[in-house]
Amino acid sequence: MRHILVLLMTLILPAFAMAQYDPLYQQKLVDLGTALFFDVTLSRDKTQSCASCHDPAQAFMDWRGSPVGRAASVGNDMKSLGDRNAPTLAYAALTPVFHRNEDGDYVGGMFWDGREPDLEGQAGAPFLNPIEMQMESKAAVVERLQEHTMFPTAFRELWGDDIFEDVDVAYRRMTEAIAALERTEFFSPFDSRYDRYLRGEYEPTEEEELGMTLFFSPQFTNCNQCHQLKPFAESEGELFTNYKYFNVATPVNVALREANGLGPDHLDYGLLENPQVDDPAQAGKFKTPTLRNVAMTAPYMHNGVFPDLETVVRFYNKFNVRGPARDINPDTGEPWGEPEIAENIDWEKLESAPALDERRIKALVAFMRMLTDRRYEHLMP
Ligand code: HEC
Ligand code: HEC
Repeated sequence: MRHILVLLMTLILPAFAMAQYDPLYQQKLVDLGTALFFDVTLSRDKTQSCASCHDPAQAFMDWRGSPVGRAASVGNDMKSLGDRNAPTLAYAALTPVFHRNEDGDYVGGMFWDGREPDLEGQAGAPFLNPIEMQMESKAAVVERLQEHTMFPTAFRELWGDDIFEDVDVAYRRMTEAIAALERTEFFSPFDSRYDRYLRGEYEPTEEEELGMTLFFSPQFTNCNQCHQLKPFAESEGELFTNYKYFNVATPVNVALREANGLGPDHLDYGLLENPQVDDPAQAGKFKTPTLRNVAMTAPYMHNGVFPDLETVVRFYNKFNVRGPARDINPDTGEPWGEPEIAENIDWEKLESAPALDERRIKALVAFMRMLTDRRYEHLMP
């Protein structure tokens, strides 16, 4: 029966539908996705592409800088300044589609708040974002596609001569091409020193070895309660996030709020900003980011409030340090700053580890530096 069905499908389905499983179709789709990813003509003033804020030469982060360094990105008009840090796109394709698991926890999705379920949904957003690429409508983007020297031919070859007749269909196809690019091995190479170590091709230093032990052992740190996906024995392909949402008491980035004009009263509710979520118990939670290539993606947290990895580890350490030292950021001598959202902080996980000494803090950083893909190793700050 199954064989007959397959035979019937092969005969009946139109050629273009079958073409989707064709490697040549995939290659053309990825080629188009690549051209779209780098194309500035799809932003209002033709100044900006996806690559502006996600530079493949710099671990897919925004390397350009802004009035607040790399904490947030400037848009097409070179003035508008966002409120969140551009995450790396490396390994993003392996993020599960936004869903709730059997325990009712929110998992996966795109953006710090999971508001787009998948890569296709995400890829449609920046073009129309009023502080990013600033196009006024899907129709305007599709018009730009048609004005291009190469895109019309590529679209028609892939999807037929009438592809531009329905704006929504053409727009959706554009996002499929970008997502296909993001799913290629180029975005997820798994060739960091850590991956090479697992394959027996790299000998970790003593410090890296200590960092690795600390990171994966719950008696020493709590990191793996949120930044580990698979059991250690199946560590190959580890993504260093369980894709769940937590409030880790990240302080407000005051300088950013001054620079982007949102001001001191603005609050980023994280997961609660996701239109699919209306439970106030989710306020202040953000998606746990991957730690792959994290040595390349400073500054840190959803708002870029911490300048380097050592500061991040010292911040986590404060939850387990006793006495007044707990409240002071040793890098600046200033208080850490109030959590942006004081509710729903995961004290149980954050306070579940012993305090780290200097040597252990540095070892954790050395371990995180091991997670840098080979092509960025020489660029690590
Ligand atoms: C002006 C800078 C800017 C531009 C242009 C831009 N992005 Fe982003 N991107 C961001 C920021 C900032 C975020 C995080 C926003 C948030 O979480 O609300 C983000 C998030 C993402 C994510 C989510 C990653 C994850 O793990 O959650 C993906 C994927 C992505 N961008 C892809 C793209 C693509 C594809 C384009 C081009 C169509 C693009 N971006 C254009 C700044 C930009
Ligand atoms: C309760 C869950 C949880 C625990 C425990 C935890 N993290 Fe995180 N981590 C997160 C979340 C959620 C974020 C994003 C927070 C935000 O943006 O406000 C994050 C952010 C980070 C970042 C910044 C990454 C980036 O791209 O900006 C680093 C680095 C990091 N964690 C390392 C660690 C280390 C090292 C440990 C152990 C010492 C640890 N984390 C413990 C959930 C956790």
